[in-house]
Amino acid sequence: MLEISQITKQYPTARGPLTVLASVSLKLERGESAAIMGPSGAGKSTLLYIAGGLEPPTSGTVTLDGANPYQLAERELASFRNRKIGFIFQDHCLLPQCSVLENVLIPTLVDGGSGDDAGRARELLEQVGLGTRMDHRPSELSGGEKQRVALARALIRRPLLLLCDEPTGNLDEASAGMVADLLVELHARQQTMLIVVTHSAELAARFPLRYELRHANLQSAGA
Ligand SMILES: Nc1ncnc2c1ncn2[C@@H]1O[C@H](COP(=O)(O)OP(=O)(O)OP(=O)(O)O)[C@@H](O)[C@H]1O
Ligand SMILES: [Mg+2]
Repeated sequence: MLEISQITKQYPTARGPLTVLASVSLKLERGESAAIMGPSGAGKSTLLYIAGGLEPPTSGTVTLDGANPYQLAERELASFRNRKIGFIFQDHCLLPQCSVLENVLIPTLVDGGSGDDAGRARELLEQVGLGTRMDHRPSELSGGEKQRVALARALIRRPLLLLCDEPTGNLDEASAGMVADLLVELHARQQTMLIVVTHSAELAARFPLRYELRHANLQSAGA
């Protein structure tokens, strides 16, 4: 379902090309989840962006649901990402001028939603414990609440692949635990593929597949 095959990534720099990923491969089937750990600067976010159709690799292929996103035209790629991939970024990236409910609905606005999007958004917000916060602006939420909105937004289109870049990185222990619980629970319920990048060994331990990215290589860190 997701196959990342022999990816290399080099960034051009003033000192010449910087190799961040060297022949990295990773395969996930529907319903599987993996955690990726590794030191700062190892290339974890880069790998996540490549998997999510946001950053083309220097070489190698990405196949999601039978298609290589980097062979699509720009407009098709945007639609592909929107339909098949949910992202949660470390700093949540909510739109400040929109309400919680509107933020969750953003992915449905891009290329025409389906059915009862507002109903599903409300349901997801209930599931992440924010049923009473739907009309708040992001500035009126705690850090953990913002990440739970980001989780609801990432799931609104029922993505095949959910990518989370340090989803609990900025949270205190209690909020981090709650977001982690929700991630595990909603992943199990929705049968998506899930990749979580994290510095937290505690969060990583909650996922059956674990990898470590180090020296541009991805290695299994115990299954
Ligand atoms: N656009 C770019 N141009 C040049 N170098 C880059 C660029 N983006 C990232 N890098 C470099 O690539 C390396 C990997 O960056 P990346 O953000 O993937 O690391 P990371 O593992 O996610 O780190 P962290 O845990 O700190 O988030 C870093 O050394 C970074 O400086
Ligand atoms: Mg990163």
